Amino acid sequence: MNKIKHLGIILDGNGRWAKKRGLNRSLGHKEGLNTLEKIVPVIFNNGIEILSIFVFSTENFKRPEAEVNYLMKLFSNNFDKLNNICNKNNIKIVFSGRVENLPKSVLKTEEKLVLSTKNNHRGILNICLNYGGQSEIVDMVKKIIDEKVPSDKINEEILYKYLYQDLPPIDLLIRTGGNKRISNFMLYSLAYSELYFTDTYFPDFNEEELLKALSIYNHTERRFGGLKDETKSN
Ligand code: IPE
Ligand code: MG
Repeated sequence: MNKIKHLGIILDGNGRWAKKRGLNRSLGHKEGLNTLEKIVPVIFNNGIEILSIFVFSTENFKRPEAEVNYLMKLFSNNFDKLNNICNKNNIKIVFSGRVENLPKSVLKTEEKLVLSTKNNHRGILNICLNYGGQSEIVDMVKKIIDEKVPSDKINEEILYKYLYQDLPPIDLLIRTGGNKRISNFMLYSLAYSELYFTDTYFPDFNEEELLKALSIYNHTERRFGGLKDETKSN
C-alpha cells in the first residue's frame, strides 16, 4: 500500500458549477469554500499529513475585477471557519505565494491563521494563494543568490528548503473540473506525483470522490524512474 504523505488539490470548476445552475460565478466560489471546509478534516482523517490546495493563482488576477474582489473578500471574511476547523483537528495552516498585489485584509487574515494554528502538529494545510509555480522557482533562485549559497551545496533535496514552504514532494495530485493540466502548480514538488483528474466540479467534490482517488493511488506501482520491484510481488 502506498502511503500518501502529501496530497495536492487543484480546485477547479466553481464557475461552471454555478453556471450550470443559472447562478452567478461567485456563488460557485462560496460553495467551493464550503466544500473545502467539509473535505479538509476528511483528508486528514484518512492519514494524509500534508494538504496543499491551490485556491488562487497569480494568473487569476487577470479575471474581471469584480470576481477578484469577491474572491479576496471571501478569503478575508470567511477563512475564520477554516481556522476553527484546523484548530479543532490540530492542523497547522501555512501559505504559499507572493505577497505583492494581495489586499491588506487578506494578508492580515493569513497572518492570523498562521499565528493561531502554529502549534498544531497533526498535519499541515498549505494554502496556495497568489501562487505560481514558476514564480516560486524564481523566488527560490533569488533567495539562494541573496544568501550566497555555494554551488556545491545545491542538490535536489536542498532545493525543497528554498521553496515557499519546506514540504516533502507531492505524492498524489487531484484536479477537479475536467481539465487535464497542471496550471503552474507546485512544479518542483510534482516531479514524480501520481495525477488524478476528475470531471466533478469542486463544489461537488466529496469523501466518495476522495476515496476513489486514494484507492486508485493505492493500486499504482510507483517506480520513480526505476524498474518494477520484483521483491514485492509475493
Ligand atoms: C476554481 O474555479 C476557483 C478559482 C480559480 C479561484 P474556477 O473559477 O476556475 O471555475 P471554472 O473553471 O470557471 O468553472
Ligand atoms: Mg477554472
